[in-house]
Amino acid sequence: MISMTSVVELAYMASSLLFILGILKLGKVKTSKQGNLWAAYGMALAIGATMLLLITRGDWDPRPGEWAYQSHALAIGAMVLGSAIGWWLAVKVPMTSMPEFVAFFNGLGGAASMFVGLAEVPRAVELAEKAAEEAAKKGEVGGWTMSGSGADFAIAVMLAVIIGAVTLTGSLVAYAKLAGKLNKSRIGPLGSQGFNIVLGAVCIGAGAWGGFFAADPMGLWVSNGLLTLGALLLGFGLTLPIGGADMPVAIALLNSYSGIAGMTTGFILRNNLLIVAGSLVGASGIILTQIMCKAMNRSLTNVLVGGMGESAGGGGGSKDEGYTKVKSTSAEELAAVLDAATSVIFVPGYGLAVAQAQHKVRELAGLLEKKGCQVRYAIHPVAGRMPGHMNILLAEADVPYEQLYELDRINDDFKNTDVVVVLGANDVCNPAATNDPKSPIAGMPVLTVWDARTVVVVKRSLASGYAGIRNELFQMDNSLMFLADAKKALEDTITELKAL
Ligand code: TAP
Repeated sequence: MISMTSVVELAYMASSLLFILGILKLGKVKTSKQGNLWAAYGMALAIGATMLLLITRGDWDPRPGEWAYQSHALAIGAMVLGSAIGWWLAVKVPMTSMPEFVAFFNGLGGAASMFVGLAEVPRAVELAEKAAEEAAKKGEVGGWTMSGSGADFAIAVMLAVIIGAVTLTGSLVAYAKLAGKLNKSRIGPLGSQGFNIVLGAVCIGAGAWGGFFAADPMGLWVSNGLLTLGALLLGFGLTLPIGGADMPVAIALLNSYSGIAGMTTGFILRNNLLIVAGSLVGASGIILTQIMCKAMNRSLTNVLVGGMGESAGGGGGSKDEGYTKVKSTSAEELAAVLDAATSVIFVPGYGLAVAQAQHKVRELAGLLEKKGCQVRYAIHPVAGRMPGHMNILLAEADVPYEQLYELDRINDDFKNTDVVVVLGANDVCNPAATNDPKSPIAGMPVLTVWDARTVVVVKRSLASGYAGIRNELFQMDNSLMFLADAKKALEDTITELKAL
């Protein structure tokens, strides 16, 4: 007869398959909702199977007053509370704040791995003591040592603690920077490369001491304590110097760390599904990091060493930067310009998401198409505040996917385009990236909107964007500034266009 363990392992395999198929489906806008659901079913199956395993193994023997019973109740209580908070946040948090919440959730993943690691220190101590007893029986000198599977276990525990702790504090800094609550690149010694090296050395030293040389169980506790403290500070120190526009790369990397931390807890708990799920998150996070680095023309080392955006606010600028030759425009003029155009490209940015103007741009595009105008949308890989932000936003308004063009496919077409309407975008079309080597965004590929015959930039003021830098596009000869909320500007333009 098939054992319960085999049933659970089969369920774990089915969950892994659902995760993989879910990720595959997330790769395309059309199937992404289904992908998300499939992955959620995989997770529900995994939780159900794990509970079944614990109950049938007797780990959750429901005898009142016993620790097993209490942990049973604690686990169910935590799951109910966690699901309720997750549900509430998913409904409450606006789309524009999603990136900082993703960063925050990554941090929680890291914290979970760190705590699993710490909770398993007693088992590491037990294994070490057994190894010492056996060594003593064989007459070997050295007493308390880590060896064989004991050492493997201790190393897995320490890796979970160190990666989990770095992910936790690193993600909290990323959250605070994205939410505009923190704009410092250093707090005391934290954030300096020298101090990071010291902290790294403390972690490695404490890990090596605990894993191989600690002379007694107390040594293992002390080394893990030192390791936790060092890694928590290291998370702060590594993420603080990453400023402004580099934050997308940092989030993708922290996402990967949370997966790797989860994978190590899989080794500690001997749970194959956790190993598979952690590896999937770790690998996809690294791939995303590479995509983001390429999109911003940065090497990962350059990002981690804080080469860019140290002065950037990371939450958007507020200064008007002293522009002198800006030409303003209005809904009436924009409608007339669009009416005469045969080709129009919309460039959506973070401001479009803030204004929730995706339906209005779709409506305006529809009117232009009816007049025989070719309409396209230029999508920059880091436009908005999270990967794929603009694709999701425009898909919500049923903008046909074929009209969305990535940077590489559209940049050569701007020169043959009558009108480009920049909607709440700023950094992603800043010429400084191509012509000012000292600019914090130097080298980042940008949408060359200034090549079009006319560029109309819709935003509320002349303030800077996320990277906190001036944008010469605003005062170029072929640029017109429409200073208004993106939704209001589009509504007024639609009214004017209908009246023509
Ligand atoms: P930004 O450069 O941040 O510029 C957005 C502009 O939108 C602002 O200058 C703001 O100007 C305007 N705006 C805000 N609310 C508006 C409203 N209601 N109506 C009209 N305009 C409004 O955006 P971007 O061009 O999309 O570039 C994205 C930046 O974020 C890049 O620097 C990128 O590196 C960074 N970033 C990206 C990600 C990812 S993964 N996409 C994650 C984190 C950071 P006003 O205040 O004058 O209106």
